[in-house]
Amino acid sequence: MLRDSLISLSRSATAKALVTKTPLRAMSRRFVPGESVESLVDTIREANAAGFSATGNYLGESVHDEPNARRAADVYLRVFDAIGADRLDANVSLKFTQLGQDISERFLGDNLGRVLDRADEVDSFVRFDMESSEYTQRTLDAFEKLWSAGRRNIGVVLQSYLHRTVGDVARMNRLGARVRLCKGAYAEPASVAFQERTKVDDSFVELMRMLLDEGTCPAIATHDERMIGATIDHHSKGGFAADRFEFQMLHGVRRDLQRQLVADGYRLRIYVPFGEHWYPYLMRRLAERPANVLFLAGSVVQE
Ligand code: FDA
Repeated sequence: MLRDSLISLSRSATAKALVTKTPLRAMSRRFVPGESVESLVDTIREANAAGFSATGNYLGESVHDEPNARRAADVYLRVFDAIGADRLDANVSLKFTQLGQDISERFLGDNLGRVLDRADEVDSFVRFDMESSEYTQRTLDAFEKLWSAGRRNIGVVLQSYLHRTVGDVARMNRLGARVRLCKGAYAEPASVAFQERTKVDDSFVELMRMLLDEGTCPAIATHDERMIGATIDHHSKGGFAADRFEFQMLHGVRRDLQRQLVADGYRLRIYVPFGEHWYPYLMRRLAERPANVLFLAGSVVQE
């Protein structure tokens, strides 16, 4: 109930105005460390120094006008300039609707092409975040089109809460594409997504095993100790891709676990969001763990 309310608040302009005007913005920096490319670079440097790789995400989605969609792509060009110049251990994650998917597939292709070319120039990689289920098929189609055209510095995200994902993982494994597996962050109907946590978790474990056994450099993105434990357990049995998998976690979430995994010798990539459009992202993080509302109100959250 609270989760659904927080997800609806993520779409409310009035709620955003209220939060922006309060000191909560300052506290939300735990999850969104800054608004500029420079702040992203500082955070990536800190992450690299601590032994983590990083992926930078310029916050934004549902962009419907060409100038703003181009501007978002320009920000990513600057991020790749910094990654190349400073030799950062980092890549980027972006959303298709931020780069103009709702304007037209053709516009998206052109705008995204500039970003992918720059990623190639600095030998980096672009992960396409997965949005709500109305975009799943379009996003996978656009991905496969790029793959067929020979792009190899790209990867997708698949969500364990969707019924369809077992087929999508099998397909991506056959292609040799890099997949990030996560549970899924949007409010989805029962017609397309599991509603019970146990089913989402069971699905996650099944998909994780498929990825470790047959996938290409899979990324297991979760803060759930049971999912991490199941992954470590399966890794110890040795699958085809097992040595090339990495864990991924969000900046500011379960920092204790992040440090522990790296100390235990696992690869970990931190997802670092930045930019002025931090509000829907923040609300989704609160929806995942409503105790974070207390944290933002001044209480203590699990490290
Ligand atoms: P779950 O939500 O069950 O949480 C397990 C435990 O983790 C909690 O009990 C708590 O201890 C801790 N935890 C989880 N979230 C927390 C939070 N916000 N604050 C504090 N503690 C928290 N989704 C999507 O739909 N499309 C995408 O492209 C991506 N991309 C993505 C990248 C990366 C690197 C990560 C880590 C996650 C995503 N997600 C995503 C989000 C994902 O779908 C999911 O909503 C969150 O990761 C929360 O799910 P968990 O697997 O952590 O488990």
